[in-house]
Amino acid sequence: MTDRGDVPMQWLRNTAPYIHAHRGRTVVVMLPGEIAAEGLLPPLIQDIALLSSLGLRIVLVHGCRPQIDALLADAGLESEFHRGIRISDSETMVHVRRAVGALRLEIEALLSMGLPNSPMQGAALNISSGNFVTARPIGVVEGVDHHLTGRVRRIDTSGIRRQLDAGTIVLLSNVGFSPTGETFNLAVEDVAVRCAVELAADKLILFGQDSGIHDGEGQLIRQCAVDAAATLAPVDARQQVLLAAATEACRQGVARSHIISYRNDCALLQELYTHDGVGTLVARTEFEQSRRATIEDVGGILELITPLEHDGVLLKRSRELLETEIGRFRLLERDGRIIACAALYPFPENGCGELACIVTHPDYRGDGRARRLLDALEDEARQLGLAEVFVLTTQTAHWFLEQGFVERDRDALPDARASLYNLQRNSKVFFKRLG
Ligand SMILES: CC(C)(COP(=O)(O)OP(=O)(O)OC[C@H]1O[C@@H](n2cnc3c(N)ncnc32)[C@H](O)[C@@H]1OP(=O)(O)O)[C@@H](O)C(=O)NCCC(=O)NCCS
Repeated sequence: MTDRGDVPMQWLRNTAPYIHAHRGRTVVVMLPGEIAAEGLLPPLIQDIALLSSLGLRIVLVHGCRPQIDALLADAGLESEFHRGIRISDSETMVHVRRAVGALRLEIEALLSMGLPNSPMQGAALNISSGNFVTARPIGVVEGVDHHLTGRVRRIDTSGIRRQLDAGTIVLLSNVGFSPTGETFNLAVEDVAVRCAVELAADKLILFGQDSGIHDGEGQLIRQCAVDAAATLAPVDARQQVLLAAATEACRQGVARSHIISYRNDCALLQELYTHDGVGTLVARTEFEQSRRATIEDVGGILELITPLEHDGVLLKRSRELLETEIGRFRLLERDGRIIACAALYPFPENGCGELACIVTHPDYRGDGRARRLLDALEDEARQLGLAEVFVLTTQTAHWFLEQGFVERDRDALPDARASLYNLQRNSKVFFKRLG
């Protein structure tokens, strides 16, 4: 045994499932102008380069509110706002264009520099920014003309996809163009949400100043489903805007929106590559999905059950066997990772079915997950017209007793199953009648 390298090795093992789960996924990342204004852009862009090299398809959407404010202040101009939205007249727009152009170039330069002195040194990254966003004017609202302040009208998704397919990072700004050739100032949140929705992105990542969304008591909300998000009352207006954007994206089909802090150097990688992340996650569906397994899940299930096979808790299953029996498995998936599974093998001629391979990942035990899978498989058994389910177990007898199973003699097993009984394992047999 050597200590050297154990920590990174373990870290790599823990991270590998997430690397696998995120590869090929489309992620829209919103970068508010404050990141650059606070000098925090370079390390963040390095992490984005790393994500790109790990196979994520990335669209960056940057804003530049503080940069616009600074240029306006230098010019001795003051912006007018209506309901929090800046009115962009043609004079203001000169400064918006300057701010957007400068920041866009800064991000492109950072992504182009080959990331010296970083793990990504020498990695070639291609960036594409262009006229992917078509805009329209907001118009006159409550008597106030918003001039060149606009909303997203259309996103050129096929153009963006072509770039992503080629491994290019797409960079969008908070401006859009009209078919009549005008440039409109847009809210960065509007561009990010619409882009994520229209691309059917897997994730929208929203950077904010705080670690996530905090409730009235200042507690960080780690995760919530989209319906629950509507009932939250974030502590301030800034968080409200982020939560509204996250929720809107999920309502319109984005699977997950993450709100994380740009002031935490590790937030992006921790959010994507660790179990529980660090910010607030808003999910379109129930947080953990229970579903039937498919052939794509074989690897994930093997990862879950192999350690227990080595310990003799479970009977050994080869990959080939698992592939042929995969349709009998149900699983719980969290963030693309399988964290629990169970299988039902029906014996219709005997009116019963065997429950097998019930496993919850050690990090997720004790929260009723196995119970939830058991309930689902019992329902499935009922639908198949089976009157009973049974299990063979060596070390988990009491768990099954607590779930309403009763011990029976081996003779109670269907003949076809009894003939396969492994005497050496000396498993106990438990049955449960389905009500
Ligand atoms: C048994 C197992 C599937 C339960 O998963 P889970 O998602 O934690 O299940 P639940 O949350 O519904 O139940 C947890 C309860 O079962 C108890 N429990 C777990 N393993 C047990 C065992 N071998 N014997 C008795 N009770 C057990 C836990 O202590 C916990 O009780 P508590 O909350 O009162 O402390 C999980 O512990 C596991 O994967 N074990 C290894 C594989 C295994 O033995 N599978 C059965 C093969 S037939």
